[in-house]
Amino acid sequence: YTGASAGLLLAPSIITSCVTDGTSRSELYQYPLQFPESLDRDELKASPSNLTIAGEYSLDAFLFNGSLPGPTIRKRRGERFQIQFQNDIGQESIIHWHGMIVPPEMDGHPKDVISEGNYSYDFKINQRAGTYWYHPHPHQITGPQVYRGLAGFFIVTDEEEEALNLPSGEFEIPLIIQDRKIDDSGNLYYNPSMPERMMTGYLGEHIFINGVPNPHHEVQARPYRLRLLNGSNARIYNIAFRNGHSFTVIGSDGGLLPQPVETSELLIAPGERADLLVDFSEGFSGNSTELISKEFSVPSNGGMMGNMPQMMGQGGPEQGIEFPLMKFRINNDVDSSPSINLPQQLSEINFPSRNDVVREREIELNMEMMTGHTINGRLFEMLRVDEQISQGDTEIWEFINNSAVPHPMHIHAVQFKVLNRSGYRDLIPTESGWKDTVLVMPGERVRVIMTFNAQSGLYVFHCHNLEHEDAGMMANLEIT
Ligand code: C2O
Ligand code: CU
Repeated sequence: YTGASAGLLLAPSIITSCVTDGTSRSELYQYPLQFPESLDRDELKASPSNLTIAGEYSLDAFLFNGSLPGPTIRKRRGERFQIQFQNDIGQESIIHWHGMIVPPEMDGHPKDVISEGNYSYDFKINQRAGTYWYHPHPHQITGPQVYRGLAGFFIVTDEEEEALNLPSGEFEIPLIIQDRKIDDSGNLYYNPSMPERMMTGYLGEHIFINGVPNPHHEVQARPYRLRLLNGSNARIYNIAFRNGHSFTVIGSDGGLLPQPVETSELLIAPGERADLLVDFSEGFSGNSTELISKEFSVPSNGGMMGNMPQMMGQGGPEQGIEFPLMKFRINNDVDSSPSINLPQQLSEINFPSRNDVVREREIELNMEMMTGHTINGRLFEMLRVDEQISQGDTEIWEFINNSAVPHPMHIHAVQFKVLNRSGYRDLIPTESGWKDTVLVMPGERVRVIMTFNAQSGLYVFHCHNLEHEDAGMMANLEIT
């Protein structure tokens, strides 16, 4: 297997041939894209299942209601949401509604895990329209549980968004992107080595979208809305079309951006979402186009630590290489191609103002030889309060990445605005809107501003590289 791994350092075409290595397995774009079912009951039951994917791969899975990905939840702002989480997987778990602001006992804090039976959720949807998601949040085993299939979309709508008449129904496509590793007999496996746990996170060589390996999907030559969710444990993607075609970013983690932003590539880190408009009637010559993850650079942070991922033979180079994601086959025989008149202003947003800031905090992300990644020098402890915040306060947090690998930092119970980032790159299009997860590259300092209006209680913030999180790169924040 090490052979296949080494192949990753070479050209993307090599990756493809590694995949097919000696078997007939997985020609690119062989399988049609599938869509998760919609949630049809007031229960999410997590149970083990042996799943065959595309007739070729087998995954020793954990599934919500037997579905990979988990069923899609759709709700309108203002609605009440009640659900029973039934835990039949034989290990501790609890569900977190990523990006949603809910009371502390509804948030899936790792202290609330149950090892069997059920946990009742009941809260009011008080979010802007947007692409949220749900996944387990037990301490030290979130990575394997998400990897084995426990993750789904939670899509919220509201009036402001409906007024835009964005593509809907079959023209709105949710895509959860997850990479996985496969052994010689086609089994997907999760077995992070020490350096994977401590340094890079678990990076797979095979891309699954909505549970299908490198799928294809037939689209009409017209505009589509693509709701992207990076549900990978550790891999960052740089979303692009093979031919460099541009697309329009209309939303991020916390819903619509103030203005649409045109771009031809977009970084999306684990936990992040990106809402895109793609017009397949314009500029795509031919009848298909490939969505890829384009190469990008991960700065090294210098020094011994900076070279460590490479020295350990994993990491640095694996993150940032090009990957094929999926193929869109474009059907040009449609009579009318509706166009979208996007207004200049998608959404009215009042971000918190710097004048209201009552406190600034520095959040240092360090790599330590013995412990792995720490937040302000410490590993997670279940009930230790690391940051205390008065309800209603506006704060600026500065994430300082002193380590050699990227950290997508996620804060529960809040949506924030990214203010600035030091270093070689600027803000990216999704960062013009509300965020709950922000990518902090090695050596970067990223400042975010937010107002903590959630109910008082204990929440967490952590790195969304799930191996880092599981290894303790998480901390408690208490709203008082
Ligand atoms: Cu998506 Cu605390 O996680
Ligand atoms: Cu991290």
